[in-house]
Amino acid sequence: MELAGKVVIVTGASSGIGEAFARLAGREGASVVLAARRAGRLEALAAELPDALPVTTDLRVPDQIGALVSAAVRRYGGVDVLVNNAGQGLHVPLEQVVLDDLQAVVELNLYAPLLAMQAVVPFMRARGGGAIVNVGSNTTRLAIPGIGAYSATKSALNQLSATARAEWAAEGIAVSLVTPNVTATEFHRSLRAGTFRGGHVQPQPPELVAEAIRRAVQTGDAEVFPVSPPG
Ligand SMILES: NC(=O)c1ccc[n+]([C@@H]2O[C@H](COP(=O)([O-])OP(=O)(O)OC[C@H]3O[C@@H](n4cnc5c(N)ncnc54)[C@H](OP(=O)(O)O)[C@@H]3O)[C@@H](O)[C@H]2O)c1
Repeated sequence: MELAGKVVIVTGASSGIGEAFARLAGREGASVVLAARRAGRLEALAAELPDALPVTTDLRVPDQIGALVSAAVRRYGGVDVLVNNAGQGLHVPLEQVVLDDLQAVVELNLYAPLLAMQAVVPFMRARGGGAIVNVGSNTTRLAIPGIGAYSATKSALNQLSATARAEWAAEGIAVSLVTPNVTATEFHRSLRAGTFRGGHVQPQPPELVAEAIRRAVQTGDAEVFPVSPPG
């Protein structure tokens, strides 16, 4: 699916990867629905894009996810693409994980993508298809001490994505996973708890991940990895 002329919901559009992808989709000619909690940032971004709708949303509140999708449908008549990008880290050793913190990141990293998929699928079905991209993490391929709780939420998202893909494929709804490496965003400064210990890793620019999300929408591939251009 190409982005031009499509209605695209991007969660976590107020910074980092979500903001970079929203800009890319806007440049491509999509109508972009921007979701996050920081209203000022969403409004400023919307003002820079050719056609965008900022919808202040706390994705940990299920009713607000329904309201986000309703706002998109009210304004644009449907939804073609959902990018489940919002997420938060929980970077403490397992022995120190506090259940309140784990619950918060499970609500954001797992419940919210599920609820958003549930909310958009009837509208995609009505249009004869759609594309859903879930932003996971390459940490799920590794066993990095100190980030197991965060990785567990993203591993669950991997499974959700794979199953959603199988459940909706026959209806023309492609579900893809994009798995970034360390990326230069606000992510490591806004952890739910703990500290980032990967300062030695050269981060990717968020635009590289945005490009991978675009590729996922275009190809409908099961998994897309952000890759730097050669040289
Ligand atoms: N950066 C990395 O190294 C890295 C690596 C692998 C995977 N990822 C994944 O990439 C995705 C994007 O992260 P990023 O790197 O771009 O980090 P970021 O700059 O911190 O962006 C996170 C986004 O999530 C939004 N968000 C957080 N809590 C929310 C809530 N309750 N309701 C609505 N929106 C909420 C934030 O907006 P508000 O605060 O305005 O609500 C922000 O727009 C995440 O899923 C993350 O797990 C990142």
